[in-house]
Amino acid sequence: MSDAVDLLFTNVNLATMVPTAVDGYGEMPDAALAVKDGRIAWLGARRDAPPATAEHDCGGAWMTPGLADCHTHVVHAGNRSNEWEARLNGASYEDIARQGGGIMSTVRATREADVAALLGQSLPRVARLLCEGVTTLEIKSGYGLALDAEARMLRAARAVAERLPVRVVTTFLGAHALPPEFAGRPDDYVTEVCERMLPQLAQEGLVDAVDAFCERIGFTHAQTERIFLAARALKLPVKLHAEQLSDQQGAELVARHGGLSADHLEYLSQAGIDAMARAGTVAVLLPGAYYFLRETRQPPIAALREAKVAMAVATDCNPGTSPMTSLLLAMNMACTLWRLTPQEALLGATIHAARALGLHEDIGSLEVGKRADLALWDIARPADLAYAMGSNPCRSVVNGGVLRAAHISM
Ligand code: NIG
Ligand code: FE
Repeated sequence: MSDAVDLLFTNVNLATMVPTAVDGYGEMPDAALAVKDGRIAWLGARRDAPPATAEHDCGGAWMTPGLADCHTHVVHAGNRSNEWEARLNGASYEDIARQGGGIMSTVRATREADVAALLGQSLPRVARLLCEGVTTLEIKSGYGLALDAEARMLRAARAVAERLPVRVVTTFLGAHALPPEFAGRPDDYVTEVCERMLPQLAQEGLVDAVDAFCERIGFTHAQTERIFLAARALKLPVKLHAEQLSDQQGAELVARHGGLSADHLEYLSQAGIDAMARAGTVAVLLPGAYYFLRETRQPPIAALREAKVAMAVATDCNPGTSPMTSLLLAMNMACTLWRLTPQEALLGATIHAARALGLHEDIGSLEVGKRADLALWDIARPADLAYAMGSNPCRSVVNGGVLRAAHISM
């Protein structure tokens, strides 16, 4: 066995995104990075690079960790442009939901789709995310709302990783909305979620984490807590759609359960921020939904920053509130709409997103020992990733040490 590394990237500028780096991006200009057995084996000044079996001249490009989109509903069937049009003609998102549209219209379409049909509709969306350097993708269920249909969604999510070069993390979101079979009996549905759906799906190995929609049009604080207790019994981590449309003290709840993340957070209170800071729960910011719903209440970014709560940025890709397949655009929106710095936005799509998935030991920064999930960019400086709108500077991507062209067509 030779000591040579498998692949050496040279003539490259690194943005390591190591959180302790003084400049935040952890910049290393004119550097090199070596990969062995699918992991980062070495990084440093180009002249000190170790011997390598193969070399890749990056032509002066920038390299970041592969991006992680840590909150998506990308697997679903159907489309809701009709509701978007209705909203622009005066209806509200909550009105539409109460009239049986909203999440329920996607539930109807998703229940009719088998795994192949779900994949057929979802892979093109995933491919668009991957063209922009995404190497890790969280995918939620939550449009099936019955055991079989939720299982099909999660199987489709697992199958995404077999069909495309991406690592997929699944989340069971059975408590996304109340299915019509349980109208007027939300507690009975929560029992079904906790006692039948979750244990069975977990046993099939389909569930990496558990989420719920704690909201006036979703589930109450008490119902959400029952779901968290069921997740804990199965040793599954939890996260929450919290404080999107009103303050339900969901952030406090998920923090109290040691949750990975609280997501949305437009109506987050200072008590919620303090609880998240104490628990190390990540704030997942979803500016696409805020933009698309034309919300005006902003998440308390300055207070989150002040409390040193890690902030991640994700697409929330879904047909109702964020039909967005660009994590770079989400980063731009987080900066422009909410005043994140470009550096915070990139931390939010790399190491803090990894933390929101519980994967920060394995991915999210350029550090020796981490998985070689990397993205190469034709940019002048790291801030350019959040700066440009509607352009894609991704030149190539590395998944577990394997180099591919950025563009994937489906
Ligand atoms: O993250 N907030 C709840 N869930 C989704 C919306 C789902 C839908 O409208 O289909 C969200 O915004
Ligand atoms: Fe969501």
